[in-house]
Amino acid sequence: MGPPQVKGRAMIEALHATAQEMVRRPRGILAADESIGTMSSRLEKAGVPVSGENRRAYREMLLTTPNLSSGISGVILSDETFNQKLSDGRDFPAAVAALNILPGIKVDTGAKELAFAPGEKVTEGLDGLRERLRDYAARGARFAKWRAVITIGDGRPSRRAMRANAHALARYAALCQESIVVPIVEPEVLMDGDHTIDRCAQATRAMLEHLIEELDEAGVDLAGTVLKPNMVVPGSESGQHAGPEEVAERTVATLRAVLPASLAGVAFLSGGQSPEVATANLAAMQKHETPWPLTFSFGRALVGPALTAWHGEPSLITAGQQALADRVEPNSAAVAVG
Ligand code: 13P
Repeated sequence: MGPPQVKGRAMIEALHATAQEMVRRPRGILAADESIGTMSSRLEKAGVPVSGENRRAYREMLLTTPNLSSGISGVILSDETFNQKLSDGRDFPAAVAALNILPGIKVDTGAKELAFAPGEKVTEGLDGLRERLRDYAARGARFAKWRAVITIGDGRPSRRAMRANAHALARYAALCQESIVVPIVEPEVLMDGDHTIDRCAQATRAMLEHLIEELDEAGVDLAGTVLKPNMVVPGSESGQHAGPEEVAERTVATLRAVLPASLAGVAFLSGGQSPEVATANLAAMQKHETPWPLTFSFGRALVGPALTAWHGEPSLITAGQQALADRVEPNSAAVAVG
């Protein structure tokens, strides 16, 4: 093993430094990278007219929250936002960097149905990715994100779906590192379904095993990589409830069983958990000793309340920002004890 020869020492050191900064507690990562389709439906649900300008205004509201950098190390942007400007004329990536926050970019192009795997998906976006990453890096991206979705159900997840997604994640991660961009690898085992917490633990472990094997095959340097996993929880329609101690214990045990100590860090997704539950689970994780920092890279659990409070009204920007700050603060406090 060891780092492949094509990577120079300076490149590796730069990747390591960025990865460490991304997961250095008490900060975590803000996922504001919803695709145009997802963001549009969230705006619609909040009663905000759907337009590129409103998606832009929403992201500007989030980013200009006072003191955001006290709890946020990096912001993941979508391609649309990466190419937009704040109302003062600055590009989004430059404005993020000026806040002492690392600009990131979601580079996958979405999960599509996988052939011969009913109900399962594979994430696409590898075609032309080398050139896109070079361009994003030249324009300030310091890290990237690729999300794979894994479902639990009858015969799922299949080995076929796990392998296809792990392979794509590894090819993406290697291309990122080639451009000195830290990859966030996100193999999300969805909460949807009536499965037990045991099934979630098994599926999460199996997917992570495939992922680590593929990352190794692809020559990816784990110390320059951040993992963004789901927490180990019962299915949302299972009728089961697991408290923070159980979620933390099951999640940490699963991660420990699979992840090499060299990984830069772990930043959890929230996956549809309520903001308060996600924070309580994250706090409980910190009681466990792990070789890697455990922090957050939440989307909905950070920005959901802010969207509701703002709902497109210029006069409610401050209320939206306060709602975001009110979620960043407890998550930062949750990881500060680690
Ligand atoms: P959630 O925290 O809402 O799951 O979003 C995280 C994310 O980045 C999904 O790709």
